[in-house]
Amino acid sequence: MTADNTTTQASSVHGTWTKRWTFVLAASGSAVGLGNIWKFPYITGENGGSAFVLIYLVCILAIGIPIMIAETLLGRRGRKNPIHTMRDMVTASNASGFWHVIGIMGTLTGILILSYYSVIAGWALAYIPKLAGGEFSGATGALANSIFGGEQGFLSQYGTLIFWHSLFTIVTVYVVAQGIEAGLERAVRFLMPALMILLLILLVYSALEGAFAKGAAFLFTFDISKLSWNSALTALGHAFFTLSIGMCAIMAYGAYMPKQDSITKTITVIAVMDTGIALVAGLVIFPLVFAHGLEPSAGPGLMFISLPLAFGHITGGQLFGALFFTLVAFAAWTSAISLLEPGVAWLIERFGFSRRKAALTLGASAWVLGLGSVFSFNIWQHYKFAGMFTVFDGLDFLTSNIMLPLGGLLIAIFAGWVMKPEMVDDELRMESPWLRSAWWFALRYISPTAVAVVFVLGVYDKFAG
Ligand code: PHE
Repeated sequence: MTADNTTTQASSVHGTWTKRWTFVLAASGSAVGLGNIWKFPYITGENGGSAFVLIYLVCILAIGIPIMIAETLLGRRGRKNPIHTMRDMVTASNASGFWHVIGIMGTLTGILILSYYSVIAGWALAYIPKLAGGEFSGATGALANSIFGGEQGFLSQYGTLIFWHSLFTIVTVYVVAQGIEAGLERAVRFLMPALMILLLILLVYSALEGAFAKGAAFLFTFDISKLSWNSALTALGHAFFTLSIGMCAIMAYGAYMPKQDSITKTITVIAVMDTGIALVAGLVIFPLVFAHGLEPSAGPGLMFISLPLAFGHITGGQLFGALFFTLVAFAAWTSAISLLEPGVAWLIERFGFSRRKAALTLGASAWVLGLGSVFSFNIWQHYKFAGMFTVFDGLDFLTSNIMLPLGGLLIAIFAGWVMKPEMVDDELRMESPWLRSAWWFALRYISPTAVAVVFVLGVYDKFAG
């Protein structure tokens, strides 16, 4: 770009700017969601804290970022829906048809995740009127606990859960049916910074009023002795989940990315921001947990118990609390769109569905499956597959701990070993030879080995340990 200020150039610069932001906004909207604010804190609590956090951070750096770069470059190279992109990449590399599995499994994984994701996003929606109505004003830990999980509590009211699950699904399907760009841009551009600001306000509150030192120590003392292989697998799976990789969401969005943009820089910024938000959410929640005598291992309800409790004691907490859960629902919504989009794009291109019909078909399938997760928290809570999984637990384990790591493993091997290196280099154009070697090494050697080892030992530990 030169400093030449002719009119033509100004307008072309404007055009590029919008396109460039479309990818950044869509990808950050996809990455930042329930994974950061709801899931990261609760699985950290369940897996004993700091050692788990350490493994998670290592997984993001050594495995997540390299694979996220690979997935984006595949998308930008293919410029189609993931299934067709993979088909074209396979043809261009003269590779075996086996590799089509990346696009197919990824697209299916998106629908499976969406089924329970919208149930939890529904909880966030349901909490907006609860907070606005002052249900938590001056609440104790015991009260917040019983409002959520008590005998007559929120989780037991499956009709209510279904209502909010349906509402969230409808809104997601509606937007995907309309075409996603405009709404998505606005939501991510304004609402995400607002969410970050509110999280920072909560951080200040936690630091002043919570057991901050204890909470921080729980997250960052890095005592590795407590760790099991199953926890390591959960940390690995979550690294994929939180970055939205291993299931082709980022591949689908990579197709929007202008050719001249640096994939490496953009992806690194998104991944660092995503991780930062999760850590801040942890630093907000755990000091509250310890200050109010809550259980760190309370499970999926952790955020829904600890945060309303805090809002119940903050001046203006009804307003802030309602706003906070609104923003969480928006963050979930921009992620849910990316779970649905690959399958919708595929139905349109493969079977000539209208966008509306495609979004409705897949949305309805995810909705039905989601009922299984709704009932996991009430009438079916005692039915357990293999003695350990409710429908929700099973779907979460299957997608986060099995399908995403497998998808990521295959993407790493495909981009690292099967694709022609010239093609990869042409797409990436990394300026620093040092960075290029580091990325290749991480993608070709570290990621596949680490994912394979953690996967095998983790699954073994889960079922035999
Ligand atoms: N990354 C999203 C979150 O953290 C969830 C997600 C996973 C979205 C996979 C798309 C694909 O909430």
